[in-house]
Amino acid sequence: MKIAVIGATGMVGTVLLKVLEERNFPLTELLPVASTRSIGRELVFKDKLYKIIGIEEALKAKPTLAIFSAGGETSLKWATKFAEQGTTVIDNSSAWRMDPTKKLIVPEINANILTKEDTIIANPNCSTIQMVMALAPLHKKYKMRRVVVSTYQSVSGTGIHAVRQMENEENGIKGAMAYPYQIHQNAIPHCDVFEENGYTKEELKLAREPQKILDDRTFSITATAVRIPTSGGHSEAVNVEFENDFDLNEVRQILISTSGITLQDDPSTNSYPMPILAKGKDDVFVGRLRRDMTQENTLNMWIVSDNLRKGAATNAVQIAEYLMINKLI
Ligand code: A2P
Repeated sequence: MKIAVIGATGMVGTVLLKVLEERNFPLTELLPVASTRSIGRELVFKDKLYKIIGIEEALKAKPTLAIFSAGGETSLKWATKFAEQGTTVIDNSSAWRMDPTKKLIVPEINANILTKEDTIIANPNCSTIQMVMALAPLHKKYKMRRVVVSTYQSVSGTGIHAVRQMENEENGIKGAMAYPYQIHQNAIPHCDVFEENGYTKEELKLAREPQKILDDRTFSITATAVRIPTSGGHSEAVNVEFENDFDLNEVRQILISTSGITLQDDPSTNSYPMPILAKGKDDVFVGRLRRDMTQENTLNMWIVSDNLRKGAATNAVQIAEYLMINKLI
């Protein structure tokens, strides 16, 4: 299987190559693609040197699969060109997520809806993936009515320029700014761009994408997304009101038995999820489970995951694995 990784030198692309390698994905040929400024440079994959190529060359090579992590503009411009010639595209950008003709997939939840006709498949937003991973099994059992989520998001989600800004500020070095303000020792309530209704795009992704993934518009989600000076993963404080009452021990059991979730919830030993523990891992970590004392049928929880792995690269590779195992590519 010939695979093109579009954006192979970026933050997600680099982790994607690592995940493909770790999971021993059965590819016969790798086509690492980056912008014109990187063409000709080399990278190592499975102890072999690969030359970085341009996207047109990758298109001509007709790969079986192309995984895009090079931003929305590149996806909008190139994904259909790949799809039209028979390449299946898994897209990490927001370009196609809410397009009604494209599927938005978290493999543990809805990969079963994929068919051979799905030539462009969207990977959800990183904050969405970790939240919906924990919400999906609980929704199935107790039926969600409303979710209130506040995020504490890693700078790695913005890209390498944001990681550099944070590191420069930590070291007292003046440099290029990825954010309108200092991120070091700060919390910026502004992820992605503002929309006219006062919400940021990130907050609207958190509100809309879970409805599409769960194929259910009967619940609502309201979000506040905040960037904090950490790089290991996104954290989320989630308050979820269900139609039906729950038993906390049963909630714990449901989460423990859900593939891809690790329950880390023991206040007596200070055990709860944190980005420094989630970094480099594929699971979504859930803890701080407790009843909301102010409202019936309502649960509070804390969800952390490495946004570059399950929030992006790992989810994309899991989609690719599903396609391959089920002979959809
Ligand atoms: P390059 O490293 O040459 O700029 P990040 O999201 O971390 O900023 O990474 C973006 C990724 O997308 C990088 O690998 C970048 O390559 C790549 N990229 C940006 N624009 C294009 C393009 N037009 N065609 C192919 N790859 C692109």
